[in-house]
Amino acid sequence: QGAGGHVGYGKIILLGEHSVVYGRRAIAAPIGLTVRAEVGRGTPGQAPIITDWDADGSVQEPISADVSHRVATLIAARLGLPQSGVRVDVFSELPRASGLGASAAFAVALIRATAECFSIRLSDEQVSSLAFECEKIVHGTPSGIDNTVATFGRPILFKKTDAPSGHEIRDIVTPNPIPIVIGLTGMHALTSHTVAAVRAAWQQRPARYDAIFDQIDSLVGEGADALRRGDTVELGELMNINQGLLNALQVSSPELEQMVAIARRAGALGAKLTGGGGGGAMIAVAGSAGAEPIRAALRGAGYTTYLTEIR
Ligand code: MEV
Repeated sequence: QGAGGHVGYGKIILLGEHSVVYGRRAIAAPIGLTVRAEVGRGTPGQAPIITDWDADGSVQEPISADVSHRVATLIAARLGLPQSGVRVDVFSELPRASGLGASAAFAVALIRATAECFSIRLSDEQVSSLAFECEKIVHGTPSGIDNTVATFGRPILFKKTDAPSGHEIRDIVTPNPIPIVIGLTGMHALTSHTVAAVRAAWQQRPARYDAIFDQIDSLVGEGADALRRGDTVELGELMNINQGLLNALQVSSPELEQMVAIARRAGALGAKLTGGGGGGAMIAVAGSAGAEPIRAALRGAGYTTYLTEIR
């Protein structure tokens, strides 16, 4: 819980995006950026009133007012408050439509803040499962990985299953913090679009695409071992191969490829897109020279960067 309000965590997917939608494993971790929500009682019977605040204190245009309203309305209904009316203030540190899980973080923050406002106690599992329903409004067919990390806020190995919870999760504990540079392409990309494009390709040629998903799944298994050993050289190589396979799935973009090349040239042990792709964000694992040369090279090419740690 943040000061005044409740937070949902942004995330990066280290390995396994897209194939995770088809029941393969993926590894994700929270980043230091969050979405915070404050909820107060509004006028009974009225639609939710949502205000999105920018870091500088100005009101920003929500990326999709319609989607935010549908999410807030669903949350109120599921919490048994369909007619209560809520006023929501949202403070997001996360860039939107960038593959960093802003929509799931928004849902989690809103669920927690709404529950608190109406004195409803929810377990983390309940928060995550309601956020998963919200993600279906935003993304169509999400795997559930984004809402899980947005809720629990720790690194996990995730697999979608037929279990009642819908997934299996294992914690990933690394012996040392692993620095990761995040770079933004500056191109907004909707995960729903890239997920739909991969689905269309898979439906045309299931065997061809299942083979790629299986290869990514085995990289993820090796990646979980590498993380537990703190082996960043191995992690980097696995990320590079995963990027090649994401490119094969046609979810990379010219900007992402350029950023990956810049990061590797500046000493990254591995670099790949993260999240839905098609724009959005790239991640790079720093080598012995550290994160700064990678950030400087990306900034020099005009890209915004963030630094996070897997811990
Ligand atoms: C989005 O962060 C990750 C995807 O695999 C979609 C999903 O898992 O829901 C592209």
